[in-house]
Amino acid sequence: MKKAATTICLSAAITLFIFAKPLPQQDSKTRGKALYETYCLTCHQDDGSGVPHLNPPLIKTTWVTGDKKRLVKWVLSGTTDKVEIDGKTYDNNMPPQDYLKDQEIADVLTYVRSSFGNKSTAVTAAEVKAVRATIK
Ligand code: HEC
Repeated sequence: MKKAATTICLSAAITLFIFAKPLPQQDSKTRGKALYETYCLTCHQDDGSGVPHLNPPLIKTTWVTGDKKRLVKWVLSGTTDKVEIDGKTYDNNMPPQDYLKDQEIADVLTYVRSSFGNKSTAVTAAEVKAVRATIK
């Protein structure tokens, strides 16, 4: 009996070991999607298409796909100006997103730069840190 119990326990342990794999580590883009939904979606919409005349799209704009430093600086600083983006003006303000950590900005921008049809390279926390240092 004891042997049977041991065998059952052992096989249960082995089964657990095989099937209870740790969750795959979330990558930057996955974390960025969640951040986007929390901090950006209300204005830029879930497909990044924005709201005409109010909030610009994040689809293949020169800001999103262009120089990473300029993009990071933008997101950290926001703006209250009426800004022209790819030939159209938008009246709403973008609040500074500087309360987000370097890694969070990196993740959300990695998500934005590789979603909505965008195919630009990832942004790293180190890159965000470097830009933040120039703003303060
Ligand atoms: C309250 C609304 C609002 C929120 C929240 C917001 N934005 Fe914006 N965003 C704007 C507006 C409005 C502009 C256009 C500039 C202006 O008129 O102030 C803009 C412009 C931009 C631009 C540059 C222009 C373009 O379309 O490429 C980027 C990039 C951007 N936002 C990314 C983000 C990201 C990433 C987040 C979340 C971390 C975010 N925004 C959150 C309103 C918002």
